[in-house]
Amino acid sequence: MTDAARHTGLIVALDTQSPEQARQWATAVDGAAGMVKLGMEFAYAAGFGPVAAIAAEREVFLDLKLHDIPNTVASAIKALSGLRPRMLTLHASGGQAMMEAARKACDEAFPAGERPVLLAVTVLTSMDEQGLAAIGVPDGTAAQVGRLGRLAVRSGMDGLVCSAHELSLLRDALGGSPVLVTPGIRPAGAQMGDQKRVMTPAQARMAGADWIVVGRPITQAANPAAAAAAIAAELAG
Ligand code: C5P
Repeated sequence: MTDAARHTGLIVALDTQSPEQARQWATAVDGAAGMVKLGMEFAYAAGFGPVAAIAAEREVFLDLKLHDIPNTVASAIKALSGLRPRMLTLHASGGQAMMEAARKACDEAFPAGERPVLLAVTVLTSMDEQGLAAIGVPDGTAAQVGRLGRLAVRSGMDGLVCSAHELSLLRDALGGSPVLVTPGIRPAGAQMGDQKRVMTPAQARMAGADWIVVGRPITQAANPAAAAAAIAAELAG
């Protein structure tokens, strides 16, 4: 992991199925965004050719949230290594063996110093206490986030994707080392969309986020370049 992975920076989520749209947005936020995020929607709709084309030109956070048996996750990471993603996600609930296999695959498949920052997702923010209880987790979100966060770090993950409201819990539990990446960010006065529990960019930075992920407040703005620049300035301020 490079030092640049640790500054508080802006990641812009390019949530679209259109390679042309993704390219336009990526160009618009050049300079303001440290990275662009491509996820399942884009990769499954557009294919990995367009992912590779974007990754050839800029730093890409590949948000595929891998979750399978250790051997399959390791093979998938090796298959993705040609894309040289800067960050890669998997589900901590896949367990220690899966995460260790993912880390080993990264260490083997990427040149030294070029492996992606491996980020674990703990509990999806779409899950509530009732949803967790239904899958056998009776003691609530905070307990599960803390438990999976500690397991992820022990298993060789570099950091976690977490909601803004989990930042202080995770910093207290894990210390300063893990990279914390936080979506659900809204500049003051922005539309909430379907995000409910949000923070502003500056609040998230103060709470301990290393990177924030912002999608629609930038991509749906009348001027995406200006919206991204304003958020980058808020983070730097
Ligand atoms: O448009 P918006 O700023 O809400 O986009 C946030 C991005 O972060 C989307 O790509 C979304 O899938 C992702 N994300 C999220 N909440 C999580 C995890 C990821 O909004 N808990």
